[in-house]
Amino acid sequence: MSAEPLVVQDVSKVFTSRRRGPDGRRLKVHAVDGVSFEIAPGAAVGLVGASGSGKSTVAGMVTAALRPTSGSVRFGDVDVTALRGDALRRYHGDVQMVFQDPYGALNPLHTVRYTLSRPLENLLGLDARQADDRVRELLDTVGLTPPEQFAPKLPHQLSGGQRQRVVIARALACEPGLIVADEPVSMLDVSLRAGVLRLLARLRQERGLSLLYITHDLLSARVVTDEILVLSEGKVVERGVTKDVLQNPSHPYTERLLDAVPNPYAGAET
Ligand SMILES: Nc1ncnc2c1ncn2[C@@H]1O[C@H](COP(=O)(O)OP(=O)(O)O)[C@@H](O)[C@H]1O
Ligand SMILES: [Mg+2]
Repeated sequence: MSAEPLVVQDVSKVFTSRRRGPDGRRLKVHAVDGVSFEIAPGAAVGLVGASGSGKSTVAGMVTAALRPTSGSVRFGDVDVTALRGDALRRYHGDVQMVFQDPYGALNPLHTVRYTLSRPLENLLGLDARQADDRVRELLDTVGLTPPEQFAPKLPHQLSGGQRQRVVIARALACEPGLIVADEPVSMLDVSLRAGVLRLLARLRQERGLSLLYITHDLLSARVVTDEILVLSEGKVVERGVTKDVLQNPSHPYTERLLDAVPNPYAGAET
């Protein structure tokens, strides 16, 4: 799969809550309100905002897990909001998610080899031998070397950072054009974060895949993205080249996100 342009145009998402307001009607939550952006093939865009700003809802609409209330999402020629059946399954191979929690993303009873070879056999139709070779390559690519040491391991025998590398390897197994990484390092030990982010940055460069990197941590966006959008209460309040926005934030909300913590990623920027 080669990367295609992702075009998100004026998407909004209104959730109807179970709770009722004083007038007895169900409350509506405007989670995302008129968001537009594009990711060119091979580009990396960051979506940054505080908790509850609508980031995961945007991710859900991009990955076709959620249907926008209005607006459109296109990936190349594909109208993502209208996908069904086989076309939806194909799209779920082209666009892969990496979530915050690598512990929850992996089946505790499956070895690394099994986790990675399943999509290769089921989706790409490789035989066991071919899948085994490919598992070795994938482990090598994500820095779990030597591969034969990691392939037989179970998730609990790995560190959080190693588990997230397995999740990234699984995402790569289907040769996606776009990876959507929703807070991929937030649950990892601070000392492991830069390594996993540098891995995402390198994969993007080497494989020419596109990346939507979602975070509440503005500084981490510097490691992986060229461009960022700052989201507040479902709306884009600032956007631009990552370096420029970080150096010279024009919105007070962006300044607040950039609080005075020391930069744990110093030296990791690409
Ligand atoms: N399925 C849902 N039903 C109702 N409200 C939701 C649902 N999912 C998210 N929300 C609300 O939408 C807003 C944005 O949530 P989310 O996209 O998860 O934010 P973020 O990922 O930036 O933390 C929040 O107010 C959240 O409570
Ligand atoms: Mg979220």
